[in-house]
Amino acid sequence: MFIMAATGSAVGLGNIWKFPYITGENGGGAFVLVYLVCILLLGIPVMVAEVMLGRRGRQSPISTMRQLTSEAGLHGFWNSIGWLGVIAGLFILSFYSVIAGWALAYIPEMGKGTFQGVDPIESQLFFDTLLADKARLIGWQSLFMLMTVGVVTCGVVRGLGAAVRILMPLLFVLLLAMLVFAYREGDFAAAIKFLFWPDFSALTGRSILEALGHSFFTLSLGMGSIMAYGAYMPVGTSIGKTVLTIALLDVVVALMAGMAIFPIVFAHPGINPAAGPELLFVSLPVVFGAMPGGLAVGMLFFILVTIAAWSSAISLIEPAVAWLIEKRGFNRFTANIVLGFIAWTLGIGTVLSFNDWAGFTLGDFTFFGAMDFLTSRIMLPLTGLFVAIFVGWVMPRATPQSELDGEDSLMFSLWLWVLRYICPPAIGVVLLVGLYDTFTAAG
Ligand code: PHE
Repeated sequence: MFIMAATGSAVGLGNIWKFPYITGENGGGAFVLVYLVCILLLGIPVMVAEVMLGRRGRQSPISTMRQLTSEAGLHGFWNSIGWLGVIAGLFILSFYSVIAGWALAYIPEMGKGTFQGVDPIESQLFFDTLLADKARLIGWQSLFMLMTVGVVTCGVVRGLGAAVRILMPLLFVLLLAMLVFAYREGDFAAAIKFLFWPDFSALTGRSILEALGHSFFTLSLGMGSIMAYGAYMPVGTSIGKTVLTIALLDVVVALMAGMAIFPIVFAHPGINPAAGPELLFVSLPVVFGAMPGGLAVGMLFFILVTIAAWSSAISLIEPAVAWLIEKRGFNRFTANIVLGFIAWTLGIGTVLSFNDWAGFTLGDFTFFGAMDFLTSRIMLPLTGLFVAIFVGWVMPRATPQSELDGEDSLMFSLWLWVLRYICPPAIGVVLLVGLYDTFTAAG
């Protein structure tokens, strides 16, 4: 149950939509390398810490943190780990449901044959038309939000978990098929060079922070999801091995998405690798339109992307729902409606940032850009930093020791060492330098 739920949470739009586009925006190889290092050195240790906290507390993240801090007589400041997470989850859900709405919108279009034989220019035109149409965007965003709230309300998280177990392997196979297609039809060599040949001159403090933020985003860290799911984890199963498996799967899916998309991008001079959030939605339809049987494959692809996004979205709202029920006496239904409504309303800002409000920017961020920045690049790393300090330095050592009792003792010592001496300074420095760089560059 934990593996299914956590993999469902981790694998989502972050892997298939966000990873390729931010890699494109940040110049490729060097960014990918930093992202991989961040996953290994910072993401995985923090993930182990979060699962451990969740399994220890067995409640919503906010209540878990309350209990752990009061148990050990620690300062209430550490409860902010739970708070920041719940807020970040709602903010992320607000734009996540808009993007998932795009994927939903593409399902019938694939079925109708809109993309049969399109070139990049036509594909771009279709996308631009969709983005200009607020009503349509809000319609799809609302549908996705209802799907999310519906699952969480019915408490069929388990049901979706089971679906994820069948559908994730299917997504994997489909990505593999697309990769083979991209290998044969696209400029595979250029894509591999772009993704894996680090050009460090493309790296800035800003892009390093983006890589760090994304490594948290993609593993669903720094916001309580993994902590909430840790509560499902039975005592006696190895947290270390489970976390490594999930992280590996997550990275593989992201790299496969990149290797399916970039060969096509480089084979068509009309598609810009740094195009931004539209990259997936403009490049892949060209592939599907040219593939034999591609429209059916394309339809299946966007269905699977939607499901991957769905299982992530429920983990974005679940911590907040659990908290409202435990501490504020809400029932599941009203808690969901209230939170879903808040995220939906905020999401309208993201919808508008692609049309009416496209010109309103703060620095160089649109409303969507600002939401993404605030969550991925400030709140998630900050919470991750607090988790590392809390577990590594503040919490009585006996707690992780007893929770991680079954683990290999060398691995345990290594984990604790990294959590104490690597995570806090590394996350802290990247945050400070990245923020400085972002704001000075943006003027
Ligand atoms: N990890 C999810 C993805 O990659 C997004 C997510 C972030 C889900 C944070 C839950 C918490 O799409």
